[in-house]
Amino acid sequence: MYKQLIAAFSLTGALFLGACASAPSETREIAIIPQPREMQDKGGTFLLKEGQTIGAADQELMPAANYLAGLLSKATGYTFETAVGEGTISLETGNADAKEGGYLLDVSTKRIQIKGNNYGGVISGIESLRQLLPAEIESDQVVNGVEWSVPAVTIKDAPRLQWRGLMLDVSRHFYTKEEVKELLDMMALYKLNKFHWHLTDDQGWRVEIKKYPLLTEKGAWRTFNSHDRQCMKLAGENDNPDYEIPEDKLKVVEGDTLYGGFYTQEDIKEVVAYAAVRGIDVIPEIDMPGHMLAAISNYKGVSCSDKIGWGSVFSSPVCPGKETALEFCQNVYSEIIPLFPYKYVHLGADEVEKTNWKKCPDCQQRMRENGLKTEEELQSWFVHRMEKFFNERGKEMIGWDEILEGGLSPTATIMWWRTWNPKAVPTATAQGNHAILSPNANFYLDYQQDKNSIKNMYAFEPLIDTLSVAQKERILGLQGNVWCEWIPSRERMQYMVMPRMLALSEVAWVETEAKDWERFVGRMVAQFPRLDIMDVNYRIPDLEGFYETNAFVGEGTLDIKCPAPDVTIRYTTDGTVPTLESPLYEGAIKVTETTDFTLRTFRANGKKGDIVKTRFIKDEYAPAVEANPSHTGLQAVWHEYTGNDCAGIDAAPVNGTYEVKEAGIPSEAKGNIGLVITGYFNAPSDGIYTFVLLSDDGSILKIDGETVVDNDGPHSPRELIGQKALGKGMHPVEIKYFDHNGGTLRLKVLDPNGNELPASAGIYTY
Ligand code: ACM
Ligand code: ZN
Repeated sequence: MYKQLIAAFSLTGALFLGACASAPSETREIAIIPQPREMQDKGGTFLLKEGQTIGAADQELMPAANYLAGLLSKATGYTFETAVGEGTISLETGNADAKEGGYLLDVSTKRIQIKGNNYGGVISGIESLRQLLPAEIESDQVVNGVEWSVPAVTIKDAPRLQWRGLMLDVSRHFYTKEEVKELLDMMALYKLNKFHWHLTDDQGWRVEIKKYPLLTEKGAWRTFNSHDRQCMKLAGENDNPDYEIPEDKLKVVEGDTLYGGFYTQEDIKEVVAYAAVRGIDVIPEIDMPGHMLAAISNYKGVSCSDKIGWGSVFSSPVCPGKETALEFCQNVYSEIIPLFPYKYVHLGADEVEKTNWKKCPDCQQRMRENGLKTEEELQSWFVHRMEKFFNERGKEMIGWDEILEGGLSPTATIMWWRTWNPKAVPTATAQGNHAILSPNANFYLDYQQDKNSIKNMYAFEPLIDTLSVAQKERILGLQGNVWCEWIPSRERMQYMVMPRMLALSEVAWVETEAKDWERFVGRMVAQFPRLDIMDVNYRIPDLEGFYETNAFVGEGTLDIKCPAPDVTIRYTTDGTVPTLESPLYEGAIKVTETTDFTLRTFRANGKKGDIVKTRFIKDEYAPAVEANPSHTGLQAVWHEYTGNDCAGIDAAPVNGTYEVKEAGIPSEAKGNIGLVITGYFNAPSDGIYTFVLLSDDGSILKIDGETVVDNDGPHSPRELIGQKALGKGMHPVEIKYFDHNGGTLRLKVLDPNGNELPASAGIYTY
């Protein structure tokens, strides 16, 4: 029997280190992500040496052998001959008792054996071996003076889920094939095995289609759009060059600066081959029938009328009523399909603006002929027609969860993205369809990161409790999506992806019982030196130990907990952005007056982290008011509100008034929501209270008429925390909130000792 020994060797003791001191070194650090199922430490080590060989049991494994030789030789400078047959390191498939994608990695002092259940399993074994080696193995230059030792262990491992995906949007901003390969390298290291390539969208067509050259000649290039301008603005505001539009994506044509780029079909083949070596399938998405601006702008007979452009939110879609349009779509996919030798293609089919279809005689005729009652059914008809085309070519279709609307064919796979549409997966899997889960609230890697983003991803439970066993089996796996409207550069992309990718990797790989947040954080931090050497621009997780606003009576303390070693923190108190010349944070700082701190982390290579602001407010306990409320709970007024901040809510017409137990969205409120929630907060004693306000979109919390948390503006789920010194008794409370499509609102209150005060404790009245 194998024993689960990893816990004893992972870096659990060094999670949060005061002033970012170095992690205490343990004698034998084994910190693999994702966490292997079973590991036995046999003691002793294997040493990499010149002259060792890598043997592949058969020709099919030679790419894996050569890949491993490449990984091991760069930093060691040794040559590892590869050949079919036995080697010092041997690779083979046929580990029949392992789950699909599983592997056995056996390291003895003399040799290493990797036996995968399939090619992907062998790659996963290689990635575990890689993580057992010193981080310096990642260097692309020879590193002297390192002992290239591998602890002698036996690992028996297999993934929980078969789909461990990452999607990259190369339309909104473009990434060269080299930049994509770097991402594939990171994916491989953490055993992600599906690369979903979002190749086209309204902002750029990124793949050569020989039959329709204008798609790239024109459609791959644009003058700067609002996303580009916003990025440039953010570069200045955040003192962050990673938001600049990279020069290599620009060209000047007749005096106009154009942004863009595309992949030739040869480039695509090169990237697909690169991914295949690393055990990664590549799934193309040519998004249709919406998001097709390059097609409808440059070719006739593709859209409903030649009047193309934008509807109220999205671009005009292709016309499912016209055979010419269907032919166009199929011709495009006829060139795409042979480039991607895998089971799936992704049709997209999200966010379709269907108003044109209502007015188009061809669309209306198609609906009459096929007995389609709604435009949703027309969309379904289009999707089914494309799916049939794929099936005839031996492919299966994936579409975003909108493909459920208007009827799903029995063989389609949905990719669930709309967290606010929680029925998608239960419905699809009950019908027998497969599902891939990438709910935006947890798995959209372009969303702003905060202290909860990695945790939210890690906490996600892929096999939704209420599903039957058969339904659970239809969940293929998980995927993180990187939409790139505000991600213009390789550096920014990596910053958004890393280290969240590590949580994605682990939550897709390990069983629920094996998840352990604290230990995961330890292992994640242990990966940072490896990412440093790989020149990955990862984000230092949030500094902790303070909130957005902190109240104190008398004297306060800024006592920062930094989740990563080898990081320095610099700060200012005059509102300016910290630079490498600003004061260094060296330990807890006493605060005696209201002070605004601006903090910034700097990695050893000088890379700057986010600008973090925290306010320390010197306060007295605010006196309670005289009040005689008659109800427990709070009162919520729902306004029909379409604005983008909380300021306009009061003026919007009222839809209804409801009682809520705590600050949350009344079940009646749907669609355009502006809420004003009022009542009293009853403080059980004098003290500093902490208010944790989570919302999607914006919200503002006022207590005693004073803003305590300002979480306003349009945004994805974001938690901000403020404090206030309150005297025992009643304090008027007001929460404003808006959203336009099923958002989130939650207010958590912590007592002066940091314990949560539940609404059931009678803290709210009105
Ligand atoms: C999507 O985010 N529109 C799939
Ligand atoms: Zn039409």
